[in-house]
Amino acid sequence: MSNNFLQNKFGIVIGGSGLVGGAIVHFFEKNWGCSILAPNSKKLSIRDANDIQAYFHHYRPDFIINTAIAAIDSDPKLSFDINYLGNINLAKVASALKIPYIFFSSAAVLPPGNQLTEETILPLSAGLSNYAKSKVMSELTLEHLRKTEGLDYTVIRLAIVYGKHDHKIQGFHRLLFSVADQSMPMLFTEKNVCHSYSNSKKIPYFLRHILEFRDEFSGQTYNFVDQESVALSQLILTIRAFLELKSPKEFYIPYPLARFGAGILRKIIKIFIKLGIEARMPPELMFLENFYQTQTLSSSKLQRSSFADPAPDETVFSQLPDIIEYYLTRWQQLNLISAYDEEFFDPQKIAEDFLNCPETLLEEIHQQKRQPFNDFQVEQNSARNIDVASLPY
Ligand SMILES: NC(=O)c1ccc[n+]([C@@H]2O[C@H](COP(=O)([O-])OP(=O)(O)OC[C@H]3O[C@@H](n4cnc5c(N)ncnc54)[C@H](OP(=O)(O)O)[C@@H]3O)[C@@H](O)[C@H]2O)c1
Repeated sequence: MSNNFLQNKFGIVIGGSGLVGGAIVHFFEKNWGCSILAPNSKKLSIRDANDIQAYFHHYRPDFIINTAIAAIDSDPKLSFDINYLGNINLAKVASALKIPYIFFSSAAVLPPGNQLTEETILPLSAGLSNYAKSKVMSELTLEHLRKTEGLDYTVIRLAIVYGKHDHKIQGFHRLLFSVADQSMPMLFTEKNVCHSYSNSKKIPYFLRHILEFRDEFSGQTYNFVDQESVALSQLILTIRAFLELKSPKEFYIPYPLARFGAGILRKIIKIFIKLGIEARMPPELMFLENFYQTQTLSSSKLQRSSFADPAPDETVFSQLPDIIEYYLTRWQQLNLISAYDEEFFDPQKIAEDFLNCPETLLEEIHQQKRQPFNDFQVEQNSARNIDVASLPY
């Protein structure tokens, strides 16, 4: 692969503030020198076709990557507008500009099962969740646009994504949060239930590769998952061990009991809402059934492709220490969880001094006894001047 393939390219990433989009923007811009625009949903809401029209009136990218998604428990209107309509409108732009369009789909389009391939897809039906329905419809329409308009697209199906910067605390990171917060007393799964995992850090490498080699990847769907699947119970117990906690206990709550508990919670929340108290079901409870069903995605097609995994030994287990340190520090600083180990979170004890003796802290900073900030080197004449007036937003 040529290392400078992206250097003179200009791409637009939708959903760049999210877990997946954030990793893409970071790698493409900072590591590979690609020009990227990643408008947030206030600058460009893909719900609004006029917004899309106006935005692409000003910009002519070399590719579009769409990672935007409505909240997982959104109502049918929002799910349809953002996940399906917005997605297809972006694809139509890509088709008109004759540029590649990359769309992120999900294991939600698949049934339970082992080693599910890219050919598998749930039949479209009213019974699917809004999220799954919008993803199934999206995949089918993208293929339709390939046949009817020659759209150059690739669908990347992700399983459970792990990585840093999930500021909404969803999916895997919600699970980590529940263990860290000790709000999971026992195991809501069965012993050998397994799932596939996707590493957010590896996604940009795959994208760079598929953008360079369109002949191979155009019109294709890929499961982008780690080769080995993971038993949910083993993962939870490993997190527990890292955090040196006693809970959750290694007791497996049977599915009917878990479902009964979720039903009670739903009723309690309805009462709260009637009383005017703001409350909502944890969105992850939508997936309760999935905690009890194995669903693993085959990575054979990915391995047979010309893409070489940049870190084949990296798995959710090998990344756990790093991920745990990142999220625990963040959640503690946001007061979402109570302290685990002060040394771990604030080795220089600056926050402690900020709290208890700010006068001494300030004095020491001014006397340069402590240097908590950086000295930035700014090269004169190196900054690019931006003509603000020419920017449409
Ligand atoms: N995370 C997972 O475990 C997982 C698993 C399987 C598949 N996926 C797929 O991977 C993709 C990325 O997921 P993620 O976890 O990174 O999502 P995320 O963290 O929830 O981020 C969602 C992004 O969508 C943007 N967005 C929402 N509404 C928008 C609108 N109307 N117009 C433009 N942008 C809008 C948000 O931007 P603002 O913040 O500006 O609103 C945000 O940047 C999605 O397609 C998802 O289905 C994720």
